Amino acid sequence: MAASAETIATDTRTLEMELVDHARYSRALKASKRVRWDIDTDVIRGREFDYSHKFLPDGLSLVDELDFLTDAQARLWSQVQGRTYAYVFGLVERYIGAKVLELSGQHWLGDQVALEALVRFSDEELKHQELFRRLEAMFETRMPAGYVRTAEPNDVARAVLSRSTWSILALTCHIELFVQSHYEQSIDADTALSPLYRDVFMYHWREECQHAILDEIEWRREHARLAASQRDQAVDDLIALVGAVDGILQAQAAADAGYFVSACGDASFTPLEQARIEAQMLKAYRWQYIVSGVQHPHFQRVLTSLTTTTQMQRIGQALAPVMAAFV
Ligand SMILES: [Fe+2]
Ligand SMILES: [Fe+2]
Repeated sequence: MAASAETIATDTRTLEMELVDHARYSRALKASKRVRWDIDTDVIRGREFDYSHKFLPDGLSLVDELDFLTDAQARLWSQVQGRTYAYVFGLVERYIGAKVLELSGQHWLGDQVALEALVRFSDEELKHQELFRRLEAMFETRMPAGYVRTAEPNDVARAVLSRSTWSILALTCHIELFVQSHYEQSIDADTALSPLYRDVFMYHWREECQHAILDEIEWRREHARLAASQRDQAVDDLIALVGAVDGILQAQAAADAGYFVSACGDASFTPLEQARIEAQMLKAYRWQYIVSGVQHPHFQRVLTSLTTTTQMQRIGQALAPVMAAFV
């Protein structure tokens, strides 16, 4: 029987490509072993957050656009967003860890270096989730009452994991690249942040650097397995996933704006200022969790290499409402 274009698409990986992947898995594994850290002895070290300092830097919280806030209110703004920043990573790491464990099955009887790299990846995400749960317990005892978490990790994971592997890896690669740019461009440079908060994301960044490499390898391997029609469907799945992320951000931004206003004292702001607070919270979350990843140069390169011009246009059109405030 003659091979169809669809079967040819699944047979495009060469021995040379496997060797290149093996070398990349190996480098990621070595780096993972080198940077490994412990929640208590390396990160928390018996410390508490210093609430006289900001948590998230201005470049992520976009506080500068709210010119009517006092210094104390601007600090609280960054602490509310910083609390949500830790919560959102704990949220997405539930599905990421599960997906990586599933992908590791493709290597059980194959490249044992790849298997070890992916097992460590999922182990690190389990540790990160524990770290972020610990942080949330610390925030709960010291920050004003009334904080709301609008999404539950297993619900989010079930929704994400129902989509195609290609789309899940695209979303994950995007997340794990923006983690790096946030740390390198904003958190690391801001010495005025709470020292514990800054350390948390320094240690998190160290392990995430390997994750983004592994996401890309697995994403490209999955791409090579798919026929053109499956890739096209995967682009629709990616658009749906980004839409779902935006839905979570809209709910959390509304909850956090309400929490922020009530923590400042409900009479502190005019109705117009309250409306600006609500809009700015959503703008900041879209910047943090969608736009900064979409604009990441490496993500752009990889996505462009794995999609057609028409598919990129489809993605661009779907993202247009979210990107509108940033172009
Ligand atoms: Fe993580
Ligand atoms: Fe990660």
